[in-house]
Amino acid sequence: MLTIKNLTKVYDKKTVVSGVSFTVGRGEAFALLGSNGAGKTTTIRMILGLAKKTAGEMGIGTDAIGYQPESPGFPPFLTGREVLEYYAKLQGMNKAAAKEEAKRLLMLTGLDDSKTKTGHYSKGMLQRLALAQALIGDPALLILDEPTAGLDAVGRVEMIRLLCRLKKEGKTIVINSHILSDIERICDKGLLLDKGRVYRNWDRYADEGKSLEQIFMETMEAVQ
Ligand SMILES: Nc1ncnc2c1ncn2[C@@H]1O[C@H](COP(=O)(O)OP(=O)(O)O)[C@@H](O)[C@H]1O
Ligand SMILES: [Mg+2]
Repeated sequence: MLTIKNLTKVYDKKTVVSGVSFTVGRGEAFALLGSNGAGKTTTIRMILGLAKKTAGEMGIGTDAIGYQPESPGFPPFLTGREVLEYYAKLQGMNKAAAKEEAKRLLMLTGLDDSKTKTGHYSKGMLQRLALAQALIGDPALLILDEPTAGLDAVGRVEMIRLLCRLKKEGKTIVINSHILSDIERICDKGLLLDKGRVYRNWDRYADEGKSLEQIFMETMEAVQ
């Protein structure tokens, strides 16, 4: 579904993503892990075409990509339903289809169809709405930037359950995260990025018996 080879990004002579390569198979949930500033967001922005790559190659097996940005900005004066209808129409749906799609996604993400405007949404509600927005049109590939960041314990558990369900339904998912315990519950594979470089590949089966946190700490100690 996704093949990335030697992806590189240089901003103002600073290399922030350096020769990153990985592949994500259809139906897999893949994690880009690493501390703040490691280059995760820049990597997926290049995949999405939102940032221009300096070098490297990419192969993407679908046009249907849903993207949940790190800090989504929604018009504060619209309700969640209105936001979803608006984005659905932007994707070319007619009014009736957009309405149905918004209803489906509000249900799926556990947002109720209230009159609350997104300007008054909690962080958890905003993250759900951002995921709902990414799911418009039922894309085959989901790219999620820190979907559990800033959520309280209940919000995180609910988000993790929802993502596990989407994976079970066959979606291919790429998740950026620095929250290892959350990733361990959703993904089977991934890589650790540090200062734009791949320091280690992670595979649940190959790394059997080792927690992601253990692997992360060992790797980080080894590179310092
Ligand atoms: N538009 C930009 N211009 C210049 N530097 C940037 C830009 N976007 C990101 N960076 C830098 O690239 C590095 C990686 O950032 P980012 O990809 O956001 O990391 P992460 O998502 O892993 O926290 C950081 O040092 C950041 O300051
Ligand atoms: Mg980021």
